[in-house]
Amino acid sequence: MTTPIKSSTLVLGKLVQGRDGIVIRTCTTPEEFKACVLLQKEVWQFADIDLVPVRLFVVADKIGGRVIGAFEGDHLVGFVMAIPGSRTGHPYLHSHMLAVGESHRNLGLGRQLKLAQREDALARGFELIEWTFDPLEIKNAFLNIERLGAIARRYTINQYGVSSSPLQGGLPTDRLVAEWWLKSKRVTAILQAGVRPGFPQLLTIDVPREIYAWKASESERVRARDVQSRNREMFLQAFAAGKAVLGYERDKQGGGKFLLGEWNEDWSYASKHED
Ligand SMILES: CC(C)(COP(=O)(O)OP(=O)(O)OC[C@H]1O[C@@H](n2cnc3c(N)ncnc32)[C@H](O)[C@@H]1OP(=O)(O)O)[C@@H](O)C(=O)NCCC(=O)NCCS
Repeated sequence: MTTPIKSSTLVLGKLVQGRDGIVIRTCTTPEEFKACVLLQKEVWQFADIDLVPVRLFVVADKIGGRVIGAFEGDHLVGFVMAIPGSRTGHPYLHSHMLAVGESHRNLGLGRQLKLAQREDALARGFELIEWTFDPLEIKNAFLNIERLGAIARRYTINQYGVSSSPLQGGLPTDRLVAEWWLKSKRVTAILQAGVRPGFPQLLTIDVPREIYAWKASESERVRARDVQSRNREMFLQAFAAGKAVLGYERDKQGGGKFLLGEWNEDWSYASKHED
């Protein structure tokens, strides 16, 4: 049985208390970035053409992004990587990748990496981190919305084109945009109390537990595609009507459900597009 990682005070650039032997710290050297690329390859099983290369990790680190790794001894077991962006004059971080090696999943490490990313961002004056995630991935959705407090109110159709990762199962790379408003009441409440604030639910969007099996099977993939198409329409209509994803529920069988409502905090510049 695995021991969950203890929550700890995250101090970037220093060793962080975690599960015995695991520390979370920034990555800055080419060797550390190479380890990130190797872990990326292992986790997503991308073809070389789809891999984010070492050179982009270097650039991210040099221009105001940040790469943060989880190390067991010298061995990298997880990382999160962000690049800087700007929206209507406001700087923010776009978190492009979060990965935890298979052997170290479900210990709380993914969440700890994101919390370290938040601490670093706040210390450097950012108030927003965004990232995209596949709305068919039940685990990621739960982590993003319920455990971290991100919201979603934008949907991108086939963002990267069809990718070589088996995690995608050959489906269009549709993505929800997670907005993580680091100083919002919602995020601080979730991080302090561990519980998401309640809200009036206006709509739910289901993801069946069989989705992973359907994506992985050539003969059943069409069912995953049907769910994707149905949910895509529901998200697009709901977002056009001003609703936002504010909650996520998992059922006992392993299925997932997005909970949509109206977000009443005034953090808005992320949803404005620059022409
Ligand atoms: C997404 C990922 C980074 C999460 O890392 P992790 O260290 O396993 O995540 P954590 O342990 O911090 O938290 C995951 C949460 O999801 C829950 N979870 C675990 N398995 C689950 C499942 N099958 N379905 C739903 N939720 C699940 C966990 O219980 C935990 O919630 P809890 O804290 O309430 O218990 C990791 O699974 C991964 O690398 N996946 C592949 C790459 C990827 O999809 N990256 C993210 C998109 S860029």
